[in-house]
Amino acid sequence: MPLVDSHCHLQDAKFDDDRDQVIQRALDTVEWLVVIGDDLASSRAATTLIRPNVYAAVGIHPYYAATVTPEALDELRAMARAPSVVAIGEIGLDYFKYNDTPRDVQAEGFRSQLELAAELALPVVIHNRESTDDLCAILDEYHTRLPGGVMHCFAGDAAFVERTLSWGFHISFAGNVTFPKAVELRDAARLVPLEKLLVETDAPYLAPQPVRGKRCEPAHVQLTAESLAETIGIDLDDLRTATTHNAAELFLQERSTS
Ligand code: NI
Repeated sequence: MPLVDSHCHLQDAKFDDDRDQVIQRALDTVEWLVVIGDDLASSRAATTLIRPNVYAAVGIHPYYAATVTPEALDELRAMARAPSVVAIGEIGLDYFKYNDTPRDVQAEGFRSQLELAAELALPVVIHNRESTDDLCAILDEYHTRLPGGVMHCFAGDAAFVERTLSWGFHISFAGNVTFPKAVELRDAARLVPLEKLLVETDAPYLAPQPVRGKRCEPAHVQLTAESLAETIGIDLDDLRTATTHNAAELFLQERSTS
């Protein structure tokens, strides 16, 4: 059965005790998955997990935007040339109260990694938290130079769905779309065309119902897929097939033609 976890953090320390078993369970459940970096060390760690059906993305999260130096960009560029590194991410903006990185520093770190993605012709994995207006302004400027992107762990309304689609980007839903109170998020999910939809775990975070609150792992993506299929009113098989096709179109586009 086709299914892809388009976004997980298997290099996280929460998997240190049983990472091989977690990857085994993942690959028993999904066809393939993408391990995402959020700083230089976790990007390096993501690339060390590359194996058949395990791909990586490298990038620096807005929490760590101050570390996006020319040297860091050189290292990301070198890592990104490996054939199984399929995207630059996760990158973006985060204005939530826990992030004390100044907004101009975040914007600069975001822009220089968008430049890198454009240079390398790689898609981008975008993180947005309470920063939609500024994020949209930057992506309005860059999207034509990028071979695609995904709004990861989507959180937003109909207008943000529309804006994201205007860039040709995909929209990915994580376990929080299954939470009973996530009514608005499910309304947004119904607005996403099937050919732009992705599913992800963001493991170890955001475990879906009914494993909510536990450590999330990529195998749990099937619970999110089941819930999302019900939300948008399509067969689970159709959702699995479409999201797997979409993930390949976004992340494996050069390789699928070779
Ligand atoms: Ni993430």
